[in-house]
Amino acid sequence: MNVFVTGAAGFLGSHLVDRLLADGDRVVGIDNYVTGSRANLAHIRGSQPFTFIQADVSQPWTWAASSENPDLIMHFASPASPVDYGREPLATLAVNALGIMHAVALADKTKARVLFASTSETYGDPLEHPQRESYWGNVNPVGVRACYDEAKRYGEAYLTSAVRKLGIDGRIVRIFNTYGPRMQPGDGRVIPNFCLSALQGRPLTVYGDGRQTRSFCYVDDLIDGIVRLARGPGLQGKLVNIGNPIEFTIEELARIVAEVADVPLHMVPHDLPPDDPTRRKPDITLARTLLGWEPNVGLREGLVSTLDYFRELTPVA
Ligand SMILES: NC(=O)c1ccc[n+]([C@@H]2O[C@H](COP(=O)([O-])OP(=O)(O)OC[C@H]3O[C@@H](n4cnc5c(N)ncnc54)[C@H](O)[C@@H]3O)[C@@H](O)[C@H]2O)c1
Repeated sequence: MNVFVTGAAGFLGSHLVDRLLADGDRVVGIDNYVTGSRANLAHIRGSQPFTFIQADVSQPWTWAASSENPDLIMHFASPASPVDYGREPLATLAVNALGIMHAVALADKTKARVLFASTSETYGDPLEHPQRESYWGNVNPVGVRACYDEAKRYGEAYLTSAVRKLGIDGRIVRIFNTYGPRMQPGDGRVIPNFCLSALQGRPLTVYGDGRQTRSFCYVDDLIDGIVRLARGPGLQGKLVNIGNPIEFTIEELARIVAEVADVPLHMVPHDLPPDDPTRRKPDITLARTLLGWEPNVGLREGLVSTLDYFRELTPVA
């Protein structure tokens, strides 16, 4: 298959490219480096059936004319952490709205399949727990996270409408918190924060009372679920949660990071950011039944390689 991956230089995009190349696909990666990094793709440049195009995918996809038609377009480009989309709210809205529109237009011409990377943030601060795909969510449309949450909801609505109106083979993955090597150190998400603090001998900053829960999926598990959704036959129009349903409080996570990093645990409290969801946990029944997928990597195991990555990246105490 010839696969276009937008956001290829990002955390998830680069792991996705690795997996597609390992499966024998030809891959065109597109990225403007707004949050991604050249280092994430340095290991594959020039040595495999991989082409990189530096472009903003919110702009018309003129570069596509000089590439072989895609069989599959995976739209992953978007700032993804509160720090990143807080800094680039308009670009975040654009890349999810205009980016999916360009992907659909190309798919309509070439008959390519489209997979859109959506998010558990479409559930907002959920009133249903765990979250099933049928839940419509509880999102503040004018809050500080709206540029991301509503952009993803628009992307979902656009692709779903294109499935109905144009017969596009569109599929949507709602990704829950994922972690692993190549996460950006400064993106403000809890796992990089805790790993870096632990490695640098600083206290771990815990927002709120630390009793809010999150579930954390290791990146290899997530990518496997996404690839199953992208490749599976008869999945046109499907929307599937992919994430790890095992819930941890933020305080528990702090303890586990300190234990795996083998450092004493010191925590400092901090005010909760606005619109921070109190609970998040995927119902993965659909992923299990439709894709035969479930996560395999436990939190402690995943943290070992994540901490190794951050250890190599940063000077430690
Ligand atoms: N990491 C998670 O836990 C998580 C959770 C839910 C959803 N997602 C979704 O998965 C996707 C990837 O997330 P990530 O964690 O890898 O984030 P990331 O910031 O590491 O990667 C996003 C990539 O998209 C690129 N990009 C952004 N806007 C662009 C544009 N206009 N044109 C070209 N490239 C652009 C960035 O430079 C970056 O390389 C995003 O769509 C995100 O919303 C991620």
